[in-house]
Amino acid sequence: MKSCTRAGSLVGSISMKQKKEAWGSRIGVILAVTGSAVGLGNFLRFPGKAAQYEGGAFMIPYFIALLLLGLPIAWTEWTMGRYGGARGHNSIPGIFRVVWRRKMSPYLGVLGLLIPVVIYMYYVYIEAWCLGYAFKFATGQMDLGPDKGAYADFFSRFIGLGADGAVFNFSNLSGLNSVLLFMFVCFVLNFVIIYRGLSKGIETFCKWARPALIVCALVVLVRVLTLGTPDPAHPDQNVLNGLGYMWNLGWGGKSLWQSLGNAQMWLEAAGQIFFTLSVGFGIISCYASYLKPDDDVALSSVTAAAGNEFCEVALGGLITIPAAFVFLGAVGVTEAAGSTFNLGFMTLPMVFNTMPFGQFVGTIFFFLLFLAALTSSISMLQPAIAMLEEGLGLGRRASVALLGFITASGTAFVIYFSKDALALDTFDFWVGSVCIYILATIEVILFGWVIGIERGYNEMMRGAEIRIPKIFLYIIKYVSPVYLLAVFAIWLYQSSGTYVKRLVTEPVVAMSVGFLVLVFIFFLIITAQSVRRWNKVHPLEKEPHA
Ligand code: ALA
Repeated sequence: MKSCTRAGSLVGSISMKQKKEAWGSRIGVILAVTGSAVGLGNFLRFPGKAAQYEGGAFMIPYFIALLLLGLPIAWTEWTMGRYGGARGHNSIPGIFRVVWRRKMSPYLGVLGLLIPVVIYMYYVYIEAWCLGYAFKFATGQMDLGPDKGAYADFFSRFIGLGADGAVFNFSNLSGLNSVLLFMFVCFVLNFVIIYRGLSKGIETFCKWARPALIVCALVVLVRVLTLGTPDPAHPDQNVLNGLGYMWNLGWGGKSLWQSLGNAQMWLEAAGQIFFTLSVGFGIISCYASYLKPDDDVALSSVTAAAGNEFCEVALGGLITIPAAFVFLGAVGVTEAAGSTFNLGFMTLPMVFNTMPFGQFVGTIFFFLLFLAALTSSISMLQPAIAMLEEGLGLGRRASVALLGFITASGTAFVIYFSKDALALDTFDFWVGSVCIYILATIEVILFGWVIGIERGYNEMMRGAEIRIPKIFLYIIKYVSPVYLLAVFAIWLYQSSGTYVKRLVTEPVVAMSVGFLVLVFIFFLIITAQSVRRWNKVHPLEKEPHA
């Protein structure tokens, strides 16, 4: 993989009449990748998981997964993406086609279309909750008093947890504030940004949204860290102990070794790393394919990952749990911590209402979540847009319209089957967890074994502004795949039985999986059609070999 100049010169001839999009600046692509990474995972999922697994003990498998899986796989995604982009491909099937010149290879990339599109279908719905809560805080509608149950009830009615189709029952809606309205606003915003294109849409939006998000997070952080001991009747419930709950080892009286012996914690820590870095989604390769053949990928990927970790560990980790702890104590937090929904949408609103300037803090916090979610959700649309454009030769308008229709159908499905958020949870488990592991495993094996680790490393180092230590050659080739396969095997062993059983016993779960299969078949057909077209327009034999 070193004939970049030759490959670069081919780009014009193989771009199939479409104007090749490109990032406007180096900082633009880093902000876009960081924007994709920083999302609800940083501010809700991570604090919840860390608190659930005895705080500090979780950070050990978390950082190990960052070093052995997250960073190495991010490097492979950036490198393969740039390589594919230099050969005229921006979609994952196209990138896989030139990385591994086999008939079947583009089909391995179908997951790189399915994953971001399906995650978008439910992620944009949660984004709408965030916008809705920001609006309701700003307009004083979230002051529901000190009763915990009122917040749970409000949330349940807002998103229709009680019954399927509840949010479509218009007699339940309180005027214009319904979740459907916020949903509509979010959907339109996402597609307007995507329609404007890579540089004018995604890059420009991320350039202002990222700093705005940091400012909002710092405002909330300062408020939380200066809470002191708000309730003199409970002197233990202070900020320092809140931080201790999040970071210390040994809550619940367990030793470090007892905590580390929990296999589930290792699985969840690895899953969190994938989710938070947007690794294994197919997004990073798509974004990197718009780089120039000699643009740096080594430092850019580390910078994006570091930006994400700052937002996750230093902002998300210092805000969410300590805020809940000082008002609810350890027991209250433990109850809420395991569930992203409980923590974010039932517990924190009550906490904000209890603190001084709570209405302002609540507004800013949910607006921050909304911005973080939006910069992530737009990134989930780009891989499929790239595929429809380069594979089927559709124009921007047609591809946006087609993808809009597909994602709207999926989101409507998730919104309709709202009882206990079952459709959402099923999409999240099968695609947001299982498929991500599979794609990440495919990518690391392609890089370490098919491309060949030395060639892969040389490609990664082309134009690099830092030198990645050679130890990572061994990590990518041996450690990451073994780690992934082992984690996956344990996961299958522990969870697959339950999930397969649910497929048979719960009709909504079966229908949700059926829907996912339909989306998969759709992308399979698109890929087959694209491969036929690519083979005619630029057969692989005529392309430069690595
Ligand atoms: N990486 C995105 C998040 O953390 C998906 O929410």
